[in-house]
Amino acid sequence: MQHYTKPVKEFVEEHPTGVAVVLVTGVGLFVLRRWLAGGVCRSKARLDGKTVLITGANTGIGKETAVDMAKRGARVILACRDMGRANRAADEVRKRSGNGNVIVKMLDLASLQSVRALAKDVQQTEERLDILINNAGIMMCPQWKTEDGFEMQFGVNHLGHFLLTNLLLDLLKKSAPSRVVNVSSLAHETGKIHFDDINLEKNYDAHTSYRQSKLANVLFTRELTVRLKGSEVATYALHPGVIHTELGRHFLPSLPLWKRLLFLPFFFFVKTPWQGAQTTIYCTVNESLQNTSGLYYSDCAPKEAAPQGRDDAAARRLWDLSASMVGLA
Ligand SMILES: NC(=O)c1ccc[n+]([C@@H]2O[C@H](COP(=O)([O-])OP(=O)(O)OC[C@H]3O[C@@H](n4cnc5c(N)ncnc54)[C@H](OP(=O)(O)O)[C@@H]3O)[C@@H](O)[C@H]2O)c1
Ligand SMILES: *[C@@H]1O[C@H](CO)[C@@H](O)[C@H](O)[C@H]1NC(C)=O
Ligand SMILES: *[C@@H]1O[C@H](CO)[C@@H](O)[C@H](O)[C@H]1NC(C)=O
Ligand SMILES: *[C@@H]1O[C@H](CO)[C@@H](O)[C@H](O)[C@H]1NC(C)=O
Repeated sequence: MQHYTKPVKEFVEEHPTGVAVVLVTGVGLFVLRRWLAGGVCRSKARLDGKTVLITGANTGIGKETAVDMAKRGARVILACRDMGRANRAADEVRKRSGNGNVIVKMLDLASLQSVRALAKDVQQTEERLDILINNAGIMMCPQWKTEDGFEMQFGVNHLGHFLLTNLLLDLLKKSAPSRVVNVSSLAHETGKIHFDDINLEKNYDAHTSYRQSKLANVLFTRELTVRLKGSEVATYALHPGVIHTELGRHFLPSLPLWKRLLFLPFFFFVKTPWQGAQTTIYCTVNESLQNTSGLYYSDCAPKEAAPQGRDDAAARRLWDLSASMVGLA
């Protein structure tokens, strides 16, 4: 020991400022990283006997949420569009949670027919549905269209989930008290609903479209809450944080290499998928939230949504427009 401490001591004595700077920077970065990691859901609530359906659960924060739900004893349905990836994820979820009651169902949110087929399957084969987590999402893709001709981000992030939620409401009501949790984003704060050009055909911009779709998630939580009054189905919208997942898959490759390299240090500061799943888990299980429906959350705490996310008239107008787009009476 003596052997090592002496040169270390001498080094510190010779370079006091350098050592102090390195130490302070190190501790500072560590504290900053912990702070950015945000809240952790500490609820020990069990979900034995309950059924949870999570959309887009084959990767990212959806998969981490699935592991947590399974650990709490729930029956977990991974609703995904790629059966190969979904089955591999289900294996991993079973292994990591020690819960074998994890199943996979086919759902492509870019197809209304697929959404209807999944809802029918769930209605016919599941006795209950306690928690619906609308997690799947696509960000900043090129100007793609869904099977039904809707702009892709609005179609997947909003319309697909809109129809799915509506078709599963009866089962959710039957299983009440139940919850619908919507993974939205901070991006809604700069969002705008383009009622006159909802598919952004006149002037497509990948950013604008993502923000519109995430604002739609927040507005829907509002209108859904009004419609569910007195039903014991509670609704939640949330921002999960900035997380290192596959969400950037359409955005990052479009950048030149030097810009992508600039993003590397950024990854040090973003959340891991486990950290990113915490607010979803919190909205799903925190007991004290059961009677507070329709709010918006971030970092495991309530947060005020942006003003355009609290616009009741826009929420109702968007609901009516969406209902007619997906053919819902
Ligand atoms: N990561 C962030 O920093 C961040 C920030 C704010 C909000 N969010 C939100 O968090 C949610 C989860 O994102 P993530 O970060 O975990 O991203 P991710 O790793 O890209 O996961 C997205 C999931 O959605 C699925 N999905 C995409 N299109 C689909 C479709 N048409 N039908 C069915 N599933 C589809 C994907 O399936 P495939 O693997 O088959 O494509 C994947 O399972 C999204 O709603 C996103 O908007 C994320
Ligand atoms: C549940 O949520 C409330 C309100 O945000 C919070 O004060 C409490 O600590 C949470 N409980 C757990 C176990 O996380
Ligand atoms: C979730 O978002 C979808 C699509 O925007 C919407 O149809 C649904 O009502 C929302 N539910 C909640 C609880 O926010
Ligand atoms: C929620 O409301 C129900 C019925 O009004 C009540 O029995 C229950 O104790 C409430 N739960 C919480 C956490 O406030």
